[in-house]
Formats: sequence, C-alpha cells, structure tokens
Amino acid sequence: MMANQHFTYQKAELHCESVPVREAVSQFGTPLYLYSRQAIVERCREIEGAFDGHPHLVCYAVKANANPAILRLVREEGLGADVGSRGELYLALRAGFRPDRITFSGVGKRDDEIEEALVRGVHAFAVESVQEIDVIDQIAGRLGTTGRILLRVNLDIDAGGHAYISTSKKQNKFGVPRHQAREVLLRAAALSHIDVRGVHSHIGSQITDVGVFLNGARSLVGLVGELRDAGLRLPDLDFGGGYGVQYHGFLCHPELPAEPPERADLSTAGMIRAVLPILAGTGCALSIQPGRAIIAQSGVLVVRVVYRKETGEKIFVIVDGGMNDLIRPSLYHAHHQVVPVRLRGASHERVDVVGPVCESGDFFAQDRLLPRCDRGDLLALMGAGAYGYAIASNYNARLRPAEVLVGSGTMTLIRERESLEDLERGTR
Ligand code: LLP
Repeated sequence: MMANQHFTYQKAELHCESVPVREAVSQFGTPLYLYSRQAIVERCREIEGAFDGHPHLVCYAVKANANPAILRLVREEGLGADVGSRGELYLALRAGFRPDRITFSGVGKRDDEIEEALVRGVHAFAVESVQEIDVIDQIAGRLGTTGRILLRVNLDIDAGGHAYISTSKKQNKFGVPRHQAREVLLRAAALSHIDVRGVHSHIGSQITDVGVFLNGARSLVGLVGELRDAGLRLPDLDFGGGYGVQYHGFLCHPELPAEPPERADLSTAGMIRAVLPILAGTGCALSIQPGRAIIAQSGVLVVRVVYRKETGEKIFVIVDGGMNDLIRPSLYHAHHQVVPVRLRGASHERVDVVGPVCESGDFFAQDRLLPRCDRGDLLALMGAGAYGYAIASNYNARLRPAEVLVGSGTMTLIRERESLEDLERGTR
C-alpha cells in the first residue's frame, strides 16, 4: 500500500500537507474533518493509471463521501460517478459529472429516482431484481426512451470482513443469484425499452486479499461467456468497488505505539492490474466503482479531549466527537488509528477513547495503547475520509462537524459546521 505522505509529523506537530492540524482547529474548531487535496488527486491518478490505456470508466462511489468540493475535485481528475440515490445523482450532476459517466446502483430505487435518472440519461442502471427491470422498462416506455442496464450478480463469494459490509454471499440482499442471470437477462433483452449492456458485481468492501478479487473476476468472466453463448451481446462489464485500504499503522513514529498494518496483498492499482487481464479478455468496456480507495486515507477526524476519567477498571479518554460523527468503530468494530496532534514523549497507556453520546457503543477505540493525553489535547482519527461524514447524524441533537480541504498551503472550508438553528429546520 502506498506510504502516507500527506499526514505527517513535522517537529512533533501533526500536519495535513503543509498546514499544522492545530491551526485548522484554531480556525474551525472541533470535531473537524480535514482532507488533503493532494492525497485525493494522487489516489485518482493512481487508479486511472492502473488501466494502462485499456478503455474504462472509473466511477467514484459517491456514498463514500459526497461533499460537493470533493466531488468536483474527483470529476476534474476525469473520473465518473456511481450514485445510489436521487440525492447522490443530484450532487453528482451539480458537481459537473456528465450523465453518460454516471452509473446508478442500489437495491431499492424508487420510481421517481428511476425517472429522474432516465430523463438525465445516465450511463446505466445496475439493476438488482426482475421487478426493478420491469419498472425501468415501463417508465422508459412512458418517457419514450430506453434504460441501459447492467445486471448486478451475486457471485456467492465470501469477501471476509464484517458481516455488515459483505455483499456477495447468497444470504445477502444484493444482486440476483448467478444461476438466475441468464433467464433474467434473456427476459430483459426481450423488453422494448431495455438495453442490456452487461453484468456487474460488487463483491464487498475493504477487501485486501487479491484472491477474492481474482475469484470474483473469473466467476464474472465465466458468466459473460455463458451469457454470450445464450445470444446476449454484453458490451460492458462493471466490477464494482471494494478495494481495501490500510487502517492500522497509517502513521509511524518512534513516539507512537507500533500498530502492525493489516495484511494487504497489493495497492489498489496493483489489485486493478491483477484483475485487468482477466476482465479485459471479454473485450468489454470496463468500469469500476471505488469509494474508500479514493477518499478514506485522504481524511482525518480531529477531536478534542474533554475529560480523562480513571475508574480503576479502565482509563477513559472522553472526546468531543462521537458515533454521530464517525460511526465505523461502533457499527463494524472498525479500527481507526488514533494519534495525538502534538507528540509529547513516548509514555503510553491503555485507554478507551469514547464520545459524549449516551450509548456504551459510542467509542472510537477500546483498550488501545495511546500516548498519554489529557483535557484539552487534540487527537486525530486517521483514515476517516470515507463513510465518515457521509454517515454522520444529529443523534443526541449534536451538530454535524465542519469539513475543511487543505491544498497548496491553504485551508478551504468546504462545509460549515451545523448550527443550532439547523436542528429546527423544516420543523414546526
Ligand atoms: N459500488 C457499490 C454498488 C457499493 O455498494 C459500494 C459500497 C461501492 C461501490 C464502494 O465500495 P468501496 O470501494 O468504498 O468499498 N459503510 C461501510 C462500507 C459500506 C459500503 C457500501 N457500498 C464502511 O464504512 O466500511
């Protein structure tokens, strides 16, 4: 995996690019999401570059982080977008993504969402059921247009990781079972307002084992062969997202407790290069939908320690951000490295880093070795750029944090912190 160069300690102070994190906090407060522009740009280029000239479309999975400034940046880098709702479609269009570079995924698209996507002319719908195909056909017929579809196939592959982010086992709600694909697509091809473009699979998320992708690619390509034998044309192939990133040991420093990085076979580009020859053998135009690989490591969540409490049983470091700001540890037991914004020596202690929310599940780290910290200190949660702000909520009537993008030595407030008035908006 690529070394982190955008979040570094300079004279014991954590920096985002050339900006001291402390400076961002003094201007914008905590909790604060802080992103490195250069990190995002480099990840986009690395992924684009992995295709080595093979025709392709990289659709950034907007669900990972839908901040408009980040969407514009990704669009400027030449990527397309994968959207999963009308809201995401709206944001992608507003950010300037061309409709023919947008895929629309999701297991439960509403009629109005389908209509809007048809009117706009999205590249394709990744469809997940017979009923959905019929609804697209009907709406397209009414509008006098055609809906291009990719059939999402459930390959029944165990991608490992937390059950909540596994998507391609037969008990999951996603896609249609591989053995039904032929029947479903032959039926779809006979509909007047459906253009069957190909198949799609998204095996799961945070996959670091290249073997999982290789199995998925082989299974999908085998299916394309079977479907072509049945007379389908299938010019497109979409391999989804799921490329895993390093969450452990993202930052290394002699004063930080060592965190052995998780096993990761290859970088994202390496994973893509590994499956490319298999997928390219079909002659299809290829697309993928990475989210996390582009934005996870490009962002951190900065919080301030409000209290330190020793109970005899445990030491609690209570911070001013919580599960409403970053839910991944609570929801998936996900690991985010926690580091002090200012290093003050190598004495470590085992603590729980917890938020202010009235839930025992509101924690960022449990029994974690951390440099000693106390009231007023700042901590950064690394690798928080993906599925961080995107899943933030107002639980406990807490205000969603601000988001700041650092680039070329300047800080840009790309989303204001919510205000108390926001909590009443739309209510009576
Ligand atoms: N394509 C589809 C159809 C998806 O459902 C997803 C993610 C992606 C692409 C992008 O996957 P990525 O490359 O980011 O792994 N909230 C969880 C992850 C949920 C992923 C949902 N779907 C987390 O924080 O780990």
